[in-house]
Amino acid sequence: MRIMLIGSGGREHALAWKIRQSEMVEEVLCVPGNGGLKAEPKVRCLKEPGTQAEWLELARAEGVDLVVIGPEAHLVNGLAGAFRAAGIAAVGPDADAAALEGSKVFAKLFMRRHGIPTADFQVFTDHQSAVAFLEANRRPLVVKADGLAAGKGVFPCRDTAEALAAIQRIMQERAFGEAGASVVIEEFLEGEEASCIALTDGRNIRLLASSQDHKRLLDGDRGPNTGGMGAYSPAPVLSQELEARVVEEVFRPVVEGMRKDGRHFSGILYAGLMIDGAELKVLEYNVRFGDPETQALLPRLRSDLVPALAAVAGMGGDLKKVELDWSEDACVCVVMASEGYPGPVTRDVPIEGLEAAGALAQSVVFHAGTRFEAGRHLTSGGRVLGVCGLGVDVAVAVERSYGAVDRIHFDGAFFRRDIAHRALTRRT
Ligand code: AMP
Ligand code: GLY
Repeated sequence: MRIMLIGSGGREHALAWKIRQSEMVEEVLCVPGNGGLKAEPKVRCLKEPGTQAEWLELARAEGVDLVVIGPEAHLVNGLAGAFRAAGIAAVGPDADAAALEGSKVFAKLFMRRHGIPTADFQVFTDHQSAVAFLEANRRPLVVKADGLAAGKGVFPCRDTAEALAAIQRIMQERAFGEAGASVVIEEFLEGEEASCIALTDGRNIRLLASSQDHKRLLDGDRGPNTGGMGAYSPAPVLSQELEARVVEEVFRPVVEGMRKDGRHFSGILYAGLMIDGAELKVLEYNVRFGDPETQALLPRLRSDLVPALAAVAGMGGDLKKVELDWSEDACVCVVMASEGYPGPVTRDVPIEGLEAAGALAQSVVFHAGTRFEAGRHLTSGGRVLGVCGLGVDVAVAVERSYGAVDRIHFDGAFFRRDIAHRALTRRT
């Protein structure tokens, strides 16, 4: 099989690394890929085309059997459906179902319509009414821009001044462009967060192992939200009992609700959850693999991922019966970022020590913002590497991942020192 993998981040490196280990796979075409992907066996990186027609042309010219799409923007723009319409199998929902991630207003109304537990909310399309609501409801609230904003359009606000400032940025200053034409204002939930990712062919649902990411920049979960500074798997907060509830209360209503609404959801379904005792609420849905959760998940998967992806894409095989064999080991992924992240960063800084880190037992280094030039790996973005360690428990995995981090050096490298601390200090 020839698989085209779209994207250039750490999630895509982890996916390509896993996919290329499959005996079913002849070649993985990564578009555009990154410096680390270039060095993987069986992987070829290609320049990213501009238009949908060019994507289809590229897939046809390369004889691609299956397309796996990493980033949400392509899904929200309907690329998966376009491949399918051209007779090329693809993992991911059509644009009308990808709206579950592309529009927070759509997602919240969908959850309300189909009885999915989520924070109480109101939708506003004009600034004046949003301000009036905030003035009348002086309590902690969360303000969310409707459209895609690379994880930056969500403002948890402890007081009204903060919420008014968020509304000002989103609706008046249009900091996220048209994504801020509507906002969701919702109840501030307390509890512990966890991520759940499932595969679905539009009928059957298979849960992957649990994981948790760290969105905040600084140790102790302080500082601004980022694309993710690290992740670990499994997430101890998700007991087996809770996982079963997630399938029935969080994922099945999506697959069935979409069908009732005349849409079809197949692909990857990701739920960001808030768990407070026995109470389970959905913070958000994504329609793709999480980043950096995927980097912490896939090293734990002992079985082949490709039959599962093929079943999701309707290429044959029964998703219900596909083997998904998870190691009991824990995996921790520490993100090493460039100085200045999540703001503007310096690029083209040489990265040293990758070989030494990669040679360590039970560790694997996934590249994100890197490029490979003249025999050297250079930084090329905010999040540079996802350094992963496996171990019999989270403590050992933490030790292994930081052992690998300590062998890697680039000027201005920034990373958190406390990834997985919540799993370590948790009392169950
Ligand atoms: P989202 O992109 O909607 O998942 O939001 C990003 C982050 O904001 C989440 O991971 C939570 O940490 C926080 N958040 C979102 N919604 C709420 C809420 N209703 N209550 C508390 N925190 C929230
Ligand atoms: N780690 C959160 C996300 O992928 O959106």
